[in-house]
Amino acid sequence: MVTTRDGRALAVRPILPSDAGRLVAFHHRLSADSIYRRYFSLHTELSDAEVAHLTTVDYVDRLALVVFDGEELVAVGRFDRYPHSTTAEVAFVVLDTLQHQGVGLALLERLAAAAWARGVEEFSASTLATNRDMLAVFYDSGFPVEVVHDLEEVEVRFAIEPTAAARARRAERRDRSRAPGSP
Ligand SMILES: CC(C)(COP(=O)(O)OP(=O)(O)OC[C@H]1O[C@@H](n2cnc3c(N)ncnc32)[C@H](O)[C@@H]1OP(=O)(O)O)[C@@H](O)C(=O)NCCC(=O)NCCS
Repeated sequence: MVTTRDGRALAVRPILPSDAGRLVAFHHRLSADSIYRRYFSLHTELSDAEVAHLTTVDYVDRLALVVFDGEELVAVGRFDRYPHSTTAEVAFVVLDTLQHQGVGLALLERLAAAAWARGVEEFSASTLATNRDMLAVFYDSGFPVEVVHDLEEVEVRFAIEPTAAARARRAERRDRSRAPGSP
């Protein structure tokens, strides 16, 4: 369960192949801007092959978590481990109307815990240098984020070991965001 900033309780579970229709409906509800930030192109339609790839995971080297508001799929976070590696690429997309509610960070926390339990030690992600929200999620995670290159696209890497420092950093952010008058 994820509790949003405005107090809604959202269910979280691993993706299933039967989520294909819900994933397509979710994609159609995303703004062009969110699609561009996720896929780096104006990718208005997911092909059948992409839908099958995105919804069929092995729950070990590839895992996607989906968030539901009632019956509606409202966010996806996933990791894909690079072959024969302890690094996985991570990616997220949250419905526009639900962004800035803490869902992205909640998904990162859950993906990191699941990945660590499966032998993944590090996450990497490529994001547009202008994607302040995605970079904020990474920096707010408390994980030791390192910027690998810093051009139009930024590649970040960070160890996902569940250290006390990382947990403390996230708790601090939660306290800050609950404080009266916080943004
Ligand atoms: C990037 C993305 C996944 C972030 O998801 P999100 O659910 O909006 O992320 P969060 O709400 O956890 O955090 C983002 C910002 O929201 C605000 N926020 C989140 N939770 C908050 C809370 N409880 N109180 C106050 N502010 C909060 C903050 O401004 C935070 O940034 P900050 O720490 O610098 O202040 C989302 O914006 C998205 O889907 N974008 C389009 C796709 C994309 O860019 N994907 C990335 C490619 S990998």
